[in-house]
Amino acid sequence: MNIKVIIDFEIIGNYKKDKKEFYENMEILKKISQIYQTDLFISSNDIKIFKSLNVNNINIYLKETQKNEDYLVKVSEKYDWVLYFKSGTKEVLCEGNIIYSPIKLKGNIDNFKNISFTEHAKNKKYYHDFSNYYMETLANDTPKEAQFLIDIFKKYINKDNGKVIDCCCGVGRHAYLLAKDGFKVTGIDISSDQITNAEKIHNHSNIDYKIMDIRDFDLVDKDYEMSYCMWTTYNYLSLDKDLKKFIKTNYNHQKKGSILILDSKNIPRLDAHRMYHRYTEKDKFKMDILINKYVFNNIQNSQYFLFINDNGYKKFFYDDEFVRFYTINELKKIIDGCYEIIDIYGNFDMEKYNDKTSNRFITVLKRI
Ligand SMILES: C[S@@+](CC[C@H](N)C(=O)[O-])C[C@H]1O[C@@H](n2cnc3c(N)ncnc32)[C@H](O)[C@@H]1O
Repeated sequence: MNIKVIIDFEIIGNYKKDKKEFYENMEILKKISQIYQTDLFISSNDIKIFKSLNVNNINIYLKETQKNEDYLVKVSEKYDWVLYFKSGTKEVLCEGNIIYSPIKLKGNIDNFKNISFTEHAKNKKYYHDFSNYYMETLANDTPKEAQFLIDIFKKYINKDNGKVIDCCCGVGRHAYLLAKDGFKVTGIDISSDQITNAEKIHNHSNIDYKIMDIRDFDLVDKDYEMSYCMWTTYNYLSLDKDLKKFIKTNYNHQKKGSILILDSKNIPRLDAHRMYHRYTEKDKFKMDILINKYVFNNIQNSQYFLFINDNGYKKFFYDDEFVRFYTINELKKIIDGCYEIIDIYGNFDMEKYNDKTSNRFITVLKRI
């Protein structure tokens, strides 16, 4: 899929007015130009500044309103998609195959004072319309992650397999590998599309999939030996009271000595800003996803631009999400009276957690 990115120089920021913002925006420009071809619309006054900035591989066009429009139309005929970072644009809009976007994409955290990020994530395209492409585009180390869960079970429960809950199971990629290994798995997810796909692509007689909210599910059995929540997903429960509800609900489904694994990325290892893309092609469906992530304090905000060609039909979607990273002390407070932290791992090779160097923050909690 060929995607052209065009950026108004005005949107790069006024170098003289706000140097910090200017350099932040330049970073975005550099990253995006490494991924896709980038053109820049620039006014003649700005050319000297831009040339001094040592940004390679970018075509510069002199900014003249009428010409912008002509150029856009021409480019949109040549490319599948044009992503235009246009000054004055407030939100992401799609017209034909041109997407107009502001360069500042950080979501507004103030909208989430009283609701958990999980309410927002409920509508994510990935967990609904594009759930059947989840495996191809996002999951890349599933066998290793599943083996980690199996090894943890052996280490702490002292048996080869048993009864487990996959909390927020998605399309059941871990549930399936554990079921094949002899585990009895209950997979819970709030999205009916994710569960439908799980039943389709990861069906196994050892798995029972359920559409439920991990904050208040009720299963007949109350003797699960291990529960796990993989892939920075408990982090959608951004309010203490929501994470507490999940912990308490799990507690009610387990006996003393059972374990709960909470897996997330390790925040000190994350860059303040990351931009990258993923591409997938399956039958006559092609999808390019541009992913833009910011970390501020203990929050990660991500934007997803989904450029799709579905059997000749072009579709564009835009998604965003927030996740909250918990510290060890915050977790300890929340699990108090239900669980205690017995181990923390820093990756799926079972190496111990180091807050500065580990890629992941995987806590093993033991039910009291
Ligand atoms: C990042 S995906 C992870 C899926 C799976 N654990 C994996 O590693 O592939 C997050 C999943 O959490 C689900 N989810 C989000 N909030 C939930 C909630 N409150 N209860 C149950 N599922 C939830 C979403 O529908 C989505 O399938």
